Amino acid sequence: MSSMRFVRIIAWAAVAIVATLSTGYWLSPPANPSNKAALTPPFRLGGAFELTDHTGRAVTERDFLGKPRLLFFGFTNCPDVCPTTLSWLVDLVEQVGPGADIKIFLVSVDPERDTPAVLADYVGSFGPNIVGLTGRADQIDAVIKSWKAYSKRVPLESGGYTMDHTSSVYMVDANGDFRGTLDIHDDSPTANLTKLRRLIERG
Ligand code: NI
Repeated sequence: MSSMRFVRIIAWAAVAIVATLSTGYWLSPPANPSNKAALTPPFRLGGAFELTDHTGRAVTERDFLGKPRLLFFGFTNCPDVCPTTLSWLVDLVEQVGPGADIKIFLVSVDPERDTPAVLADYVGSFGPNIVGLTGRADQIDAVIKSWKAYSKRVPLESGGYTMDHTSSVYMVDANGDFRGTLDIHDDSPTANLTKLRRLIERG
């Protein structure tokens, strides 16, 4: 089997799984509230990408396999959601305990303004655990699509533009499989922490 054929089969399997989950389990509330923090079964979102990190290095999905991580879409000019979420995530990772080896990936939905240098300044202001990723518009569009996320450019009356974007935080395991999301609006004080701990323990 050629590798392209294999990739296509995996991609279609992912579509089938996502379709199944979205019609059943995925949208239904957990039967047992104590399972609220359980990880979702692994399934493939994302996949291959080519981007540039905030140090200017060309990276692909292969550079990040082997460790669980968090993935978030945003942009450095975001007035509220992005900075609030990133600060919250940095806090959450700190709560896991010293030595929690988990990186937070911020994929820019605004590559036009978010050059590696701009991203480096921005992610550095939140701490050492955040990796900024940017790229050409077509590369970014492909990543957004592959995670079933969205972004939209919105003109401002004052001139310029802002970006609407997915605010979900994706949990990704060491194999690159999607394991659910963290939710800043979750009213349970420990659900997000429990999910993050399970992600790290599982690797
Ligand atoms: Ni934002």
